[in-house]
Amino acid sequence: MKTLLQYSASIGAASLLLACGPGLAVPADGDVTRGRQAQASLTLEELNRGRASYIAKCSGCHHLYAPSVLDAEGWAHMVSEMRERSNLTHTDERAILTYLTVMSRRPGGS
Ligand code: HEC
Repeated sequence: MKTLLQYSASIGAASLLLACGPGLAVPADGDVTRGRQAQASLTLEELNRGRASYIAKCSGCHHLYAPSVLDAEGWAHMVSEMRERSNLTHTDERAILTYLTVMSRRPGGS
């Protein structure tokens, strides 16, 4: 797995962080379609819930990272690492990870 530092070196540090919620990719129907390849029951509501939880639980200590900075494996690792710090419930963790994973695969980034 590439580390985030390797990623940030290749994409440029400026695009790594989002100032706050409004800049964060908003799920659309195409994201649901793509996400259903991995999780057939995925809904737009679930992705939106994940986005809201990501903003609510992960923006307290640092700016939000764009979903495109990591791949699925990277996010799985990172969210489990941040779980205790963020007091995540299982539902939060699942929703946040689903949102980040699906959005990280958006063609052209976000
Ligand atoms: C209580 C504070 C806190 C909360 C809440 C928190 N983080 Fe972090 N996060 C940190 C700190 C401190 C770092 C700096 C690196 C480290 O200590 O691991 C960090 C670093 C990161 C990084 C970058 C790691 C790197 O390699 O540079 C990512 C991505 C990240 N956090 C994601 C999240 C996500 C996703 C959530 C919500 C589930 C979250 N964080 C919630 C404190 C927090």
